[in-house]
Amino acid sequence: MKKTILDLNRMAAAGERITYLTAYDYLTAKYQERAGVEMILVGDSMGMVTQGYETTFPVTMDDMISASRAVRRGAPGTFVVGDMPYMSYQVSDEQAVENAGRFVKEAGCDAVKLEGCTPSIVQRVRAIAEAGILVSGHIGLTPQFAGQLGGYKAQGRTAENALKLLDQAQALEKAGAAMILVEGVPAIVGKAITERAGIPILGIGAGSYTHGQLLIYADMVGMYDNFTPKFVRKYADVGAELLRGFTEYCKDVKEGRFPDDREHSYKISGDEAAKLD
Ligand code: KIV
Ligand code: NA
Repeated sequence: MKKTILDLNRMAAAGERITYLTAYDYLTAKYQERAGVEMILVGDSMGMVTQGYETTFPVTMDDMISASRAVRRGAPGTFVVGDMPYMSYQVSDEQAVENAGRFVKEAGCDAVKLEGCTPSIVQRVRAIAEAGILVSGHIGLTPQFAGQLGGYKAQGRTAENALKLLDQAQALEKAGAAMILVEGVPAIVGKAITERAGIPILGIGAGSYTHGQLLIYADMVGMYDNFTPKFVRKYADVGAELLRGFTEYCKDVKEGRFPDDREHSYKISGDEAAKLD
């Protein structure tokens, strides 16, 4: 049965921790759904993870729609959140609703996510929710605001800033957000936000008290090695396995051990083969 917002609300209310990972393609999504992952974020982190950019800024709506479609095909029963890329919602409510609609209409996403909590972002959340689309807020370390934050820095590390995050969570909830992602804050700040919330709070690097836990999949399976944040635990070493497989393939081809003509080649009858002589 396909996961809905009602399932997420029920899990959050029951204290059943929600599992959440990013994915950007069909195969990864398929393995995640098989493993029991309940939510998938098609994150604009795909800019770094699958496109090799240094930031999320260059990612386009078309990139996100294409990736979201692939993820949906791989994980038809999972709650899929489409991440609104830079400048796909900042300009106006109309732009935000139109692009949020594309995630639902063209890619079959269950919800969209947008970053920040400035007055205009709160307005965007309200506009998208009023269009009937589930919206996830995203506060704390918000990469699309990296310029203003002075880089990818943990947030909520002063009482003043932590209180501001609490206010932001409440403002987003009031505006109609269906859930909020909290990124890069101390555990007690994640706890305070979660305790005050009436909607599911998902955390990434926000401690153990949030209703759900998100990680960038390529970090936790040891594929993305340019940089690993403090909050990541490595559950597999897929990068090392890929390197081993690719290296052995190169060696076998160079040294004539692959392919093996009995094992990896198509058959032709002796009669037909004789005609080739
Ligand atoms: O794009 C993404 O993957 C995200 C998470 C890192 C929070 O927004
Ligand atoms: Na993102």
